[in-house]
Amino acid sequence: MLVSYGFRVTSWFTLLIGEKRTTKLHETQANHTKNQRTFQSLTSEIIQSDALTDAEKEKLFGWGEDIFEANNLNLRWRPKDVHFVLHVDSEAVSHVGVLQHEVSVAGSGVKVGGVGAVVTPPTWQKRGYASELMRHAANYFEVAPVDAGLLFCLRRRIPFYESLGWQLVSHPVLVQQPAGEIVSPLEVMVLPLGGHVWPDGEVRLNSFPW
Ligand SMILES: CC(C)(COP(=O)(O)OP(=O)(O)OC[C@H]1O[C@@H](n2cnc3c(N)ncnc32)[C@H](O)[C@@H]1OP(=O)(O)O)[C@@H](O)C(=O)NCCC(=O)NCCS
Repeated sequence: MLVSYGFRVTSWFTLLIGEKRTTKLHETQANHTKNQRTFQSLTSEIIQSDALTDAEKEKLFGWGEDIFEANNLNLRWRPKDVHFVLHVDSEAVSHVGVLQHEVSVAGSGVKVGGVGAVVTPPTWQKRGYASELMRHAANYFEVAPVDAGLLFCLRRRIPFYESLGWQLVSHPVLVQQPAGEIVSPLEVMVLPLGGHVWPDGEVRLNSFPW
């Protein structure tokens, strides 16, 4: 079923979720005559899966050598458990990966929803697609439930995530690497959920970063 300007009600717990909708009718600039206008309708849907297809991987991550600009850090990363891919007219245009984990903050356990591998290939950037998937991931975590979302990012990405309600963690965050624990060289941001407040104190990830 295709629903205009809205989402189809689905269960969060199915492995494959199709949320189809038609976006605004975009007026096609070409082919205009005085009394004639052409409109084009784009169909978008968010597909949830536990693994990406090779075609999706190529489309989403194959457009550059170092798309996350973090190769120089030589970090070991943790794979994501669930993937959200936004498809526009059946083409994969944006991705957010998520996982669930318990970190320790000042010695106490905090359940987090990890978010990573946030990407939109250049052709599709600046159309709100990654923001849409980030909001989708936050909704997913509200149902999960976890106390907060947690992600790693470059300093220059902070304003993007802040615009979506995420907060910078000011305390050191220790992450695991093959040689032992290190202080995260990337910024860490959290999105408190369900009325929780992110606690003060040093964060121990007890995991590779994601
Ligand atoms: C970061 C990244 C995922 C953003 O994806 P995106 O789909 O372009 O994100 P959005 O369109 O939701 O938002 C990006 C910007 O476009 C703006 N934007 C959204 N819709 C827009 C529109 N219709 N017209 C103009 N600007 C728009 C947003 O406000 C945002 O601005 P900001 O960067 O100043 O905050 C993408 O640039 C990317 O893949 N970069 C390389 C990989 C990477 O660095 N990932 C992040 C890892 S932490």
